[in-house]
Amino acid sequence: MKQSFLFLFTLPFVLLTSCKTQSPGSKDAKVRESQGVYQYRDEGPARSGTPTSPFYSDRQGVIGRNGMVASAHPEASQVGLNVLKAGGNAVDAAVAVQFALAVVFPSAGNIGGGGFMVYRDNTGNAYTLDYREKAPGKATQNMYLDSLGNVRPGLSISGHLASGVPGSVDGMAEAHKRFGKLSWAQVLQPAIDLAEKGFDLTQRDALALNRIKNDLTTINPGKAYFLKSISPTDTTTWHKGDLLVQTDLAKTLQRIQSQGRAGFYEGETARLLAEEMKRGNGLITEEDLKNYHSVWREPIRATYKRYNVITMPPTSSGGVALVQLMRFTEPYPLKKWGWNSDSTVQVMIEAERRVYADRAKFLGDPDFVKVPVDKLMSVDYLRSRWTDFSFAKATDSKAVKGGNIPGYESLETTHFSVVDKEGNAVSITTTLNGGYGSRVVIGGAGFFMNNEMDDFSVKPGVPNMFGLIGNQANAIAPNKRMLSSMTPTILEKDGKLFMVVGTPGGSTIITSVYQTILNVVEHGMTMQQAVNALKFHHQWLPDKTTFENGAFSDATIQTLQNRGYILEKLTNTLGRMDCVLIRPDGSYEGASDPRADNTARGY
Ligand code: GLY
Repeated sequence: MKQSFLFLFTLPFVLLTSCKTQSPGSKDAKVRESQGVYQYRDEGPARSGTPTSPFYSDRQGVIGRNGMVASAHPEASQVGLNVLKAGGNAVDAAVAVQFALAVVFPSAGNIGGGGFMVYRDNTGNAYTLDYREKAPGKATQNMYLDSLGNVRPGLSISGHLASGVPGSVDGMAEAHKRFGKLSWAQVLQPAIDLAEKGFDLTQRDALALNRIKNDLTTINPGKAYFLKSISPTDTTTWHKGDLLVQTDLAKTLQRIQSQGRAGFYEGETARLLAEEMKRGNGLITEEDLKNYHSVWREPIRATYKRYNVITMPPTSSGGVALVQLMRFTEPYPLKKWGWNSDSTVQVMIEAERRVYADRAKFLGDPDFVKVPVDKLMSVDYLRSRWTDFSFAKATDSKAVKGGNIPGYESLETTHFSVVDKEGNAVSITTTLNGGYGSRVVIGGAGFFMNNEMDDFSVKPGVPNMFGLIGNQANAIAPNKRMLSSMTPTILEKDGKLFMVVGTPGGSTIITSVYQTILNVVEHGMTMQQAVNALKFHHQWLPDKTTFENGAFSDATIQTLQNRGYILEKLTNTLGRMDCVLIRPDGSYEGASDPRADNTARGY
């Protein structure tokens, strides 16, 4: 799969005369105040970038020489840092962070969900682990359709039927067994402590829990999980600084600590989970749990100029899509054109349009469908997809279908990045899918279940909660993994570890990772600036480009609109990046997203 990105499209003459440069921080960049977050309303830090800055904030990166952890929550990043300081390696720290996030960041951190890990050791060996959820054994292709073939709204999104068989515990056990240095008990203990003794809610934690109070009570009748009780029958609202104690979750984590994967997939936890499913007409059985196994897959590796991209193959679409995007844009002089100039943006949007059309047509679980990964990323194929590109006018998404490959028939997630003292690096994206997943809390075990079934194509051509369309390749089948957009990625520069990158954001994950990488390698930003920089997104259908307020100058907006692009200014934000960059002097720059509670900790 190792190939060079470098190939030359014929650059239409018009582009050379049309580009207007916008540099980060230039006066052209007209920025207004933005608010809100992707998928759920915001109450986080206000945007602090100056009105003329194309950065969300002027937050600075955290510098360390011995280790770095960047994650969605300060408590989880601190857990990772403590593990590194105690002599753990990057995998030990990553496992500890995954479990800690399940306690302190229950909207996306999880043991009831799944994820993907990209690991690069300090000698350059790379591994990827697919611990994505699977459809239950009793799942059927049309399980969310009524007798007329119409989608029954909401069933793949909330409640018991929305869940796939969780993969996170098996994934962590696999990763630790193969690469961990500290004991399993040691890496589980911080999460157990946080659940048992409790932790102080941030303002964002408190408001997010208050927002789901109705769902908690209607989907989980008679249960008190995540409700702030003032008496057995009366609940009130959470506030910043309140202590959240999770006794049942602590016991579940203790079973995992003492029995390994069996502490989740067999025995008491499996029984509680299967009983909960029966109570709510869900499909997951003890048999499904026992049979779940994560899979080590061959990483996607591809070169881009002086960089090697190491990323996730299917079941995530993220790696293939990222490589396609970078190959589409590599021949163009983005650096010369400038960050978010009209020509830069136009090439990126047109690449995104074609890549998401391919995603819908070809991508699915490679254990079930043949995914033409090499072909999709090949230069010849991508060149054939670019022939209708013109700088004069936006391509119409209706005219763009997935490409032709002969012989082929056809918001809430969280990311964290860890680098240890030896230079081993882990990039993990993990999720329940929507915020707090299906919102079902397993009685007696205290954790949220995912609503990952919505990531399948429940009916060809019908968009999922991210507006993504799919087809047969991503149709539901028993024990099949649903397609993902998660894009945990590691970059090498001149063969050495250079960047660890990733983000949540559903369908926008791929484009946020793409922009963040280009911000560093093409536009010379620091890691933190690349994270702070305002972002945009196009996903083929719907045919529009959404952008964070201030991401485009007024001049760029005008030019793009004149060429037929439909632009929509977001009132919320894009991405929750947590990244690490290796600086020329060998020190680490940890960059966490200022759009939420994300925090980098290093030493
Ligand atoms: N659940 C979002 C994704 O996997 O892409």
